[in-house]
Amino acid sequence: MSEKLWIFDTTLRDGEQVPGCQLNSQEKIVVAKALEALGVDIIEAGFPISSPGDFNSVVEISKAVSNPIICALSRAVEKDIEVAAAALQYAKKGRIHTGIGVSPYHIQYKLRSTPENIIERGVKAVKFAKRFVEDVEFYAEDAGRAELPFLAKIIEEAIKAGATVVNIPDTTGYCLPEQYGAIIRYLKENVSNIDRAIISTHCHNDLGMATANTISGIQHGARQAELTINGIGERAGNTSLEEVVMAIKCHQSIPVHTDIKTERIYGTSRLISKLMNMPVQPNKAIVGRNAFAHSSGIHQDGVLKHRENYEIIDPKEVGVHESSIVLTARSGRAALKHHLDNLGVVLEGEDLNKVYEEFLTLADSKRDIGPKDLLALVGKYMDESTFIELQEISYQSNGAIKADVKLKIGDKSHQATSSGNGPVDAALKAIESIVKPHYVLEEFLIQAITAGSDDVAKVHMRLMQGEKPYYGFASHTDIVLASAQAFVDALNKIPVKDKVTID
Ligand code: KIV
Ligand code: ZN
Repeated sequence: MSEKLWIFDTTLRDGEQVPGCQLNSQEKIVVAKALEALGVDIIEAGFPISSPGDFNSVVEISKAVSNPIICALSRAVEKDIEVAAAALQYAKKGRIHTGIGVSPYHIQYKLRSTPENIIERGVKAVKFAKRFVEDVEFYAEDAGRAELPFLAKIIEEAIKAGATVVNIPDTTGYCLPEQYGAIIRYLKENVSNIDRAIISTHCHNDLGMATANTISGIQHGARQAELTINGIGERAGNTSLEEVVMAIKCHQSIPVHTDIKTERIYGTSRLISKLMNMPVQPNKAIVGRNAFAHSSGIHQDGVLKHRENYEIIDPKEVGVHESSIVLTARSGRAALKHHLDNLGVVLEGEDLNKVYEEFLTLADSKRDIGPKDLLALVGKYMDESTFIELQEISYQSNGAIKADVKLKIGDKSHQATSSGNGPVDAALKAIESIVKPHYVLEEFLIQAITAGSDDVAKVHMRLMQGEKPYYGFASHTDIVLASAQAFVDALNKIPVKDKVTID
């Protein structure tokens, strides 16, 4: 078994510093619980001295979360450390993260101090934090631009003072991967007591190197990585958790493992994007909308023949339901046929070629081609005179359960009432009493799209006629209405030649 890499999530501290991303305490608890379920080892819950809101959030997260270590940030200032310790009073496992700037810029221009004084202040802060908690992490801010002998000295003194973890931030995102890895190697080779602490990476993305630098740090001996979901954070952001975790999973040559439940990555990413009102760029690695979408004909054909031709990660591993084959003017016949098959329309040979030509003309003028467009293209299967429209539905779910439906088929209206085991069952039976399909209902899924009292239900249905599947989809806040619409949607896809008897 490889060594464990400790995953330190700072979405709620460095990530939350982004303008416009602020969360209230309740929202932070939701995020902290999602991070716990994802399997992170440490949650940096806030910077308690910075505001009463941040203090309160660290308190509430400490109460709400059991497994991860809860970490609170402080400067190398006694008051900060006292307040951080007070905020951690309910944490089952608490850590204080304290530190000071160590680059010539920070020493001279930010702290207006001397190297000797910086070491003294750093050591004093670690010793003071040790009075409150055993687990103290020391950060050497702007280590990416520090002079290495000085960095080694302050890290050695911090460990002597009791630091359990030493954090080597590339605060300004300046380093190249080789350089950052070399800093970690230098510390491993030049700090006499380095084996008594865990080395942590903390990289910013100003040059787009954060993930590469983090991986390089791990390859040179770091065993904790500080990360955020979706890579959010100051300026160009922090290292993104999903990228590091999946790079490790994909490459056995990186000698560590994590305890992240990767199938929860996508859901956690969506949750944080939504709560922080921070959209994820479509081409973002692992969690972007296009991360598993294939749009060019050559790639689509390759993926449909064998997924691994163009995918290094099975989307299910990160919680994405499936790869998507996007229909654009660059799509090939294989992609079109794949979509038509999913709609239950089986076309081969010349028939497929004809529809493909029409599809290309349409795709040149329309950006998103959806199921309705495709069904319109294969119009010969869609006979207007048998098109079913759900015009009205009402139901009663107390006492005698029954549903009334009104359908329009072609230009005729039909009405029916039926009873059932529940209102959904009654509604489907009422539709069936008008349209008498020969099918087997093979799959009927109802999912809540949003969390809350105004949940939208998404209904997915699969009818089988012999070997052929016909899919129906609908969404609505009313589950009965969504189910009836999904059923009608599936019925409308059954080609005319196989069509049901209609009274
Ligand atoms: O980027 C940084 O240096 C930090 C420290 C406060 C850890 O966020
Ligand atoms: Zn940072």
